[in-house]
Amino acid sequence: MPEIIKTIAQMRSRAEAWKKEGLSLGLVPTMGFLHAGHRSLIDRAAAENDRAVVSIFVNPIQFGPSEDLASYPRDMEHDREVCAQAGAAAIFNPETEEIYPPDFRTGVEMTELTETLCGASRPGHFRGVLTVVTKLLNIVRPDRAYFGRKDAQQLAAVTRLARDLNMPVTIVPCPLIREPDGLALSSRNAYLSPAERGAALCLSRALAAGRRELMAGETRAAAVKAAMRAVLEGEPLARVDYLEIVEAGTMRPLETIDRPVLAALAVFIGRTRLIDNFSFPE
Ligand code: PAJ
Repeated sequence: MPEIIKTIAQMRSRAEAWKKEGLSLGLVPTMGFLHAGHRSLIDRAAAENDRAVVSIFVNPIQFGPSEDLASYPRDMEHDREVCAQAGAAAIFNPETEEIYPPDFRTGVEMTELTETLCGASRPGHFRGVLTVVTKLLNIVRPDRAYFGRKDAQQLAAVTRLARDLNMPVTIVPCPLIREPDGLALSSRNAYLSPAERGAALCLSRALAAGRRELMAGETRAAAVKAAMRAVLEGEPLARVDYLEIVEAGTMRPLETIDRPVLAALAVFIGRTRLIDNFSFPE
């Protein structure tokens, strides 16, 4: 069973001891309630490094005031089992006060690529993500850190963070893992009723419709988005938060698809907000 580490001091000294032995270190930052998507990141970190650390921390500062911080699902027993099976060496699971003491005052800001998509509909979200990721990287100081394409804008922002601030870490992008029927795995899928679980398939179906347009050579973003929107409008339980086609890397909306793009959407299914995306070309 991987050791559960609660304090920054202990996490630091464990990681430093491994480094002194010449061992390489991989970090997988998570908010827990681990599923097969997280598991794929941990498997990869364990395969590519001598030691893999999984952080499990529900980061309060990346949630908006009306979001689901209080109800965010947790299951430490299950998470420890998943980490054990994947061969993780340690779990970093600090209390909120350990990461954010009362006199905490600093935040990491990024312009442009955090201002569209989830950044537009969740003000302050990426400031919270980039701040906690910076802290986790500074505490563990891994050689590699693993992030999923499920959160494509987050992956782009963290990659830019490491580059802009000259962080000595390699950010490793990992594939988006789906259920057999196409639903992207997410801890938030646990909120869905059976009827909502069925309705949630409209996200991956809408993306498939958009991909079909692109494969057929459509270059007008408006036409591709219309095809995607039509699928979502056919689902009564769905309410679109955003649906966008952006330039990969900058996350800037495009009118003409003449370069690599990310098609991304966020949709409320009942009260649950789900996101999904694909890159084109892949
Ligand atoms: P969380 O939502 O728990 O996700 C942790 C990592 O798992 C992220 O890199 C995310 O992209 C990846 N992941 C989640 N679902 C996935 C799926 N279906 N396929 C592939 N990868 C998937 O993202 C966060 O936590 C937080 O913002 C965090 C980075 C930990 C900062 O608090």
